[in-house]
Amino acid sequence: MSDFFSAGWGYYIAAISLIGIAWCLWLLWSQRKTTVQLKPDGSVDDTTGHVWDGDLRELNNPLPRWWAWMFILACVFGLAYLVLYPGLGTYKGTLQYTTRDALAKQQAEVEASVRPLYAKYMQMDVPAIAKDSQAREIGQRLFLNYCAQCHGSDAGGSKGFPNLTDGDWLYGGEPDTITQSILKGRNGIMPPFAAQLDGSKAGDVAQYVRSLSGLPADPIRVARGEPLYKANCVACHGAGGKGNQALGAPNLSDRTWLYGSSERTIVETILKGRNNVMPAHEEILTPEKVRMISAYVWGLSNGAAR
Ligand code: HEC
Ligand code: HEC
Repeated sequence: MSDFFSAGWGYYIAAISLIGIAWCLWLLWSQRKTTVQLKPDGSVDDTTGHVWDGDLRELNNPLPRWWAWMFILACVFGLAYLVLYPGLGTYKGTLQYTTRDALAKQQAEVEASVRPLYAKYMQMDVPAIAKDSQAREIGQRLFLNYCAQCHGSDAGGSKGFPNLTDGDWLYGGEPDTITQSILKGRNGIMPPFAAQLDGSKAGDVAQYVRSLSGLPADPIRVARGEPLYKANCVACHGAGGKGNQALGAPNLSDRTWLYGSSERTIVETILKGRNNVMPAHEEILTPEKVRMISAYVWGLSNGAAR
C-alpha cells in the first residue's frame, strides 16, 4: 500500500523506474558498435586516443558479449520484478505480495512451531509453572523482551514503575490479578487536591501520611494533617492508609513507595495528582506468552526460584 496522499507521486515514481530501465537499454543499444578511427597513414587505430602516464593507451574494444547479456538480463529481471511485485507507484503486482502479510505469515509459523513447547505449561497451574526451571527461563526471556523497559530487567521497578518482586501489590498478586494487569493494562488515577488543600495543608497531610509507616514526622503537623486526611483521602487509601487494590490505591502504611516518601514528593502527589498507565498487552502477546510471563512474575515474590 502506498503511503502517499496523492496518486501523482505513484505515477512519478513509476515513470522514473520505467524511464530508467528504458534508458539503460537505449544506452546498451547506442554503444553496440565501436567506431573505428583511421590513422593518417590509413591503418586502423584500435585505441580511443586516450594516452596517460606517457605511454598507457586505452584500447577501443566493443563491450564483451557476456557483459551485454548480463546487462540485458538485469533489465529483464527488473521488468519482471515490477510486474510481479509492488514497485510501480501504487500498482500492487500480480503476486499481491506485501511485506506486512509476509511478516504476519512468518509470525504465525513461528507461533505454531513453539505452541507444542508451551502446550505442557498450558495444562499446569501458575504456581507449578513457576517452579519449573525451564519455564522460568522462558518467562524471564519474555519478561526481558516485553516488560523490562518499564519494570527493570530485575523487575525491581523505579519511580512510578512498580517493583514486581517485593510482594507488595497495587492491584493484587494472585495469579489471576497479575494476568489481568498484563492483559488489560492498568491506569492508576489519583485526583489532584490543589483546589481543596493549599501547600501548607498538603504538607500537614504529608506529615500524617509519613507517620502511618513510622517515618519521622512532626507531631504537631501530624495532628493538623489527620483530620484533613480523614476528610479527603480515606475513600481510596482507607483509614490507617491500608490502600485499596480495587482502585490501585497504594498502601501508605508500609515502607514501599511508588514515587517516594519525602514530604516534597508526597505533597507533589497530593497537589498535582497522578495518572499512571500500564499498557494493555492482550493485542501484543499470545495467551501462551501471557501465561509464561504471569507465572514468572508470580514466582518472583513467591520464592519459586528458591
Ligand atoms: C510502558 C511501561 C510498561 C510496560 C511495557 C509494562 N508495564 Fe507493567 N506497569 C507499568 C506501570 C506504570 C504500572 C503501574 C500502573 C499504576 O500505577 O496503576 C504497571 C503495573 C503492573 C502490574 C501491577 C502491579 C501491582 O502492584 O499490582 C503488573 C503485574 C505489571 N505491571 C506487570 C507487567 C508485565 C508482566 C509486563 C510485560 C508483559 C509489563 N508490566 C509491561 C508500566 C509498564
Ligand atoms: C480517588 C481515589 C484517591 C483519593 C481520593 C486519593 N488518592 Fe492517593 N492515590 C490514589 C491512587 C490510585 C494512587 C496510585 C497512583 C498511581 O498508580 O500512580 C495514589 C497514590 C498516592 C500516593 C503515592 C504513594 C506512593 O507509593 O508513592 C500518595 C502519597 C497518596 N496517594 C496520598 C493521598 C492523599 C494524602 C490523599 C488525600 C489528600 C489521597 N492520596 C487521595 C487514589 C486516591
